[in-house]
Amino acid sequence: MTQNLAGTAAAATPAAADGAGPVPALSVRDLRKTYDNRVEALKGVSLDVAPGDFFALLGPNGAGKSTLIGIVSSLVNLSAGQVRIFGTDLATRRDDAMRLIGLVPQELNFNMFEKPLDILVNYAGFYGVPRSVAIERAEEELKRAQLWDKAGMMSRTLSGGMKRRLMIARAMMTRPQLLILDEPTAGVDIEIRRGMWKTLREINAAGTTIILTTHYLEEAESLCRNLAIIDHGRIVEQGPMKALLAKLDVEGFLFDIDGVLPATLPTIEGATLSATDDHTLDLEMPREMDLNRVFAVLGQAGIRVRSMRTKSNRLEELFVRLTSDNADKGPLGNSVPAQPEQSA
Ligand SMILES: Nc1ncnc2c1ncn2[C@@H]1O[C@H](COP(=O)(O)OP(=O)(O)OP(=O)(O)O)[C@@H](O)[C@H]1O
Ligand SMILES: [Mg+2]
Repeated sequence: MTQNLAGTAAAATPAAADGAGPVPALSVRDLRKTYDNRVEALKGVSLDVAPGDFFALLGPNGAGKSTLIGIVSSLVNLSAGQVRIFGTDLATRRDDAMRLIGLVPQELNFNMFEKPLDILVNYAGFYGVPRSVAIERAEEELKRAQLWDKAGMMSRTLSGGMKRRLMIARAMMTRPQLLILDEPTAGVDIEIRRGMWKTLREINAAGTTIILTTHYLEEAESLCRNLAIIDHGRIVEQGPMKALLAKLDVEGFLFDIDGVLPATLPTIEGATLSATDDHTLDLEMPREMDLNRVFAVLGQAGIRVRSMRTKSNRLEELFVRLTSDNADKGPLGNSVPAQPEQSA
């Protein structure tokens, strides 16, 4: 592995030769992967991630996210297709491409019998960072990860959240320009998770492009500017987070009702009203529909609404509509043209 002595993550981004904007941090074209057991994990995936972006890769279990990340980080061999990292082709210039990447894999994979400081310094050494530089960086990264007081402890004794933070700290030791995280906050409580979001935002603000997979849709909504949703080895939707959420044309509400609901519910034209129990109504209505109309109908039927809440996280709604067997049914069945939003 060649040396990586780059001091900062925010190295100048080369401009595309055709003048069509900066070279993507990651460019994947028609990527296919069939494992030895003949599982087709990727069936022609193409996507671009802009430099500086914070990008989410979402998808249900077994969708192909880790396979995609494995290929990009050279842990899994591709069956067909092309991967470029900041314009560097993975097939022809693997070592150069790998020097640009920091990977936080889905499974914890450090030696539990080593100390955090040694894990970081040895990892950097493996990538050619001189020891004196590595020691300085390790202190910096362990402090950022709030693990400095654990630097000399056996890693096995760290809590689950601390181990996850150690994985991020380790990946940052080579000062990668592209940080890829496969479910970095899995199984981590909400407080620690929010702390990790802060760290990731700081890393991104300092110029590192970030791609993450997550099952916490709230996490993607809070952190990421662009996203791709992958299902059964295919991208079913991609684009700026805001544009995708704006496409959701149905909203869901739950109404808590005073007293008991009548046996027959009123009908509201264009919307679907159902009772989830004696005291709760479930409403699905088009986005542009006026809620006053709903309240008028309910009022006439003698139903008094005590409180209301939105039914679900909007990204969750989008996700459910697009993945598994719902893909063809919802109003979001078509792909948004992939035009990644330029990040600030
Ligand atoms: N080494 C392997 N050998 C054979 N099949 C594999 C291998 N790794 C993954 N697969 C299969 O490829 C498909 C995609 O798996 P992958 O791990 O990429 O999904 P994922 O989106 O990361 O899922 P999760 O959210 O559960 O982590 C699955 O059907 C899985 O069983
Ligand atoms: Mg996975």
